[in-house]
Order: sequence, then C-alpha cells, then structure tokens
Amino acid sequence: MPVDEIVTQLKTLWNFDYEPKIKALRDLYEVAKKEQWNAATDVPWDLEIDEGGDILDPSQDRMRDFEFVKALPEEKRAELARRRAAWTLSQFLHGEQGALLCCGQLIEAVPDIDGKLYAATQVIDEARHVEVFHRYIKRLDQVYPIDPTLQAVLNQILEADLWQMKCVGMQVIVESLAMGSFKIMKKGSRDELLRKIVELTAQDEARHVSYGLIYMKDELPLMAEPDRNRVEDFAAAAVTAMVGQRGTPGMGAQAALFEGVGIDGEAAVREIREKLKDPEFRAGRPSPFRDHVVPQLQRIDLITERTAPQYRELGFEV
Ligand SMILES: [Fe+2]
Ligand SMILES: [Fe+2]
Repeated sequence: MPVDEIVTQLKTLWNFDYEPKIKALRDLYEVAKKEQWNAATDVPWDLEIDEGGDILDPSQDRMRDFEFVKALPEEKRAELARRRAAWTLSQFLHGEQGALLCCGQLIEAVPDIDGKLYAATQVIDEARHVEVFHRYIKRLDQVYPIDPTLQAVLNQILEADLWQMKCVGMQVIVESLAMGSFKIMKKGSRDELLRKIVELTAQDEARHVSYGLIYMKDELPLMAEPDRNRVEDFAAAAVTAMVGQRGTPGMGAQAALFEGVGIDGEAAVREIREKLKDPEFRAGRPSPFRDHVVPQLQRIDLITERTAPQYRELGFEV
C-alpha cells in the first residue's frame, strides 16, 4: 500500500464558546457553504481531450523558449507538453491531499470556533480537488510521484507544533502558490475541460487564502515574540526550500520526462538551469512566488527586517 507515515505534534483544542467572534471568518464560512460544487456532476466530463493536439497554448508555453524544445518536431512538442502538464497536475493532486490533511488538523488545532467551522468546509473542498485532479490526470497520462521538495515542505507544515505555522504554511504560502499556478495553467491551457476544472478549483482556493489572511492578520500581532519569530522563520524556510531550486522544481523527474520524448535529459536540465540564472529571462516568466506568495506574506507583515534578507537573497524585492 503506498502509504507514508509521519508523526505530528498536534494539540487538539475544544472551545465551548459557540458565539461568533471573528465576523469575517463566519462570513467566509457562509460563502463556503453556498459555493459548494460536485466534482462528479458539475464538471463537463463529456468534453473530450484532443488526443493528438497540444493541450497547452503554444504562445503561452514558456518551455518553448528553450532550444532543446525548439529542436523537436511539432508532435513531440505536443507530447512533451501533455506529459509535463500531467506531471504538474500530479503535483497539484498531491498538494491537494496535503491541504486535505492539513485543514483536518486545523479543525483540531485552531482555538476559535469560527476558525474550526470554516476549516470544516475546506476539508470537503480539498477532497473535491483530490477527486477532480485525479480523474483528469488519468485521462491525460498517469499520476507522477510527488516532488521531494514539495513533500518535505508539506510534511513540515503537518508536523509543525504551532497552529499559526500550519495556517501560514498551508493557507498563505501553499494556497497562494496554488492560486498562482492555477492562473498560469488556466491562461496557458487550450483544453476546455482543464480550464473549467482549474477555474472551479481556483474559486475555492481564493477562499482558502482569504482564511489565512483574515486569521493571521489578527493573530500574528498577538503572538509572543519568540513564537512569532518562529513563524517568520518557518515561512522564510518554506519559501527558500521551494524557490531555492531557482524555479526548477523536480528537475530529476523532468529530465525523465524529456528522455521519454527522445531528448537528452541532462543537457536539457543544464540549459534550463543556465537560462534561469539570467534575471532578465526570469523576469519575463510568470512566477507564483513573486506574484502571489511573497505579496501575501507582506500583507500579513510576516516579512520583517529580520527575515527580509533571506527573501532578497532569493531575488525578491521586499
Ligand atoms: Fe485545493
Ligand atoms: Fe486549498
């Protein structure tokens, strides 16, 4: 059975005051109840994937900027795009399971009843996302294994002892990363079914980010300094782990994908690494960290003078 076990240090809190305290979270809970959808019946599953075609819009596919992709015949480029999309969607799928596990923890770990009720709605949202991505990926290609860095960050969030770390790690960092990645995927896809799935999912993820921002904006200023510093450091470490690869997550797995369509995987990875060192090349590419994650961390004042150098080191203007 493909089961991984981690040991967590979750504190489970009861709260016997059922009166609403954080109005914005209660309002979000109401919205979440109204905006539920059914992955089995609200998705146009009868739409066919164009078998021989490119599911990505060639004008948006930044992979086509690389020489080793330009050298491929058109049908191989389309095949590579399809496999890469399945790899990326597999990471979304595993991330959705991580989110499912984490918001199950949030129900137990957050102290406020408003926070617990809202997190309960997110559990079913994430279950639906697992369902929808799994079903789509199986049509496209196959489910690829989780990227080791993504798994390490998700495990750190699940293992964290402070609930505020879980909330910042999942609801602000990972959810913003998902939002940014879904936007890129929607803009870059020409498959109607995929666009619809990403659009429906992103509506839910927007609520999940709101939860993190609303909750943490109030909570962080109330924290004792040593704990708050730990949350700041936790955020910087998570971003560093994911961005430190210089925008090339899962390069080992990607090399295998390249080899699957007849490209020299090592040479391809070398070209990608080389190009991504160029700040101008990077500036022209969409970046969910630059455009979503870091601005959201700034909104909750979690990037302080103490931790800002770590973000600058990664190339962010903070
Ligand atoms: Fe999700
Ligand atoms: Fe989510």
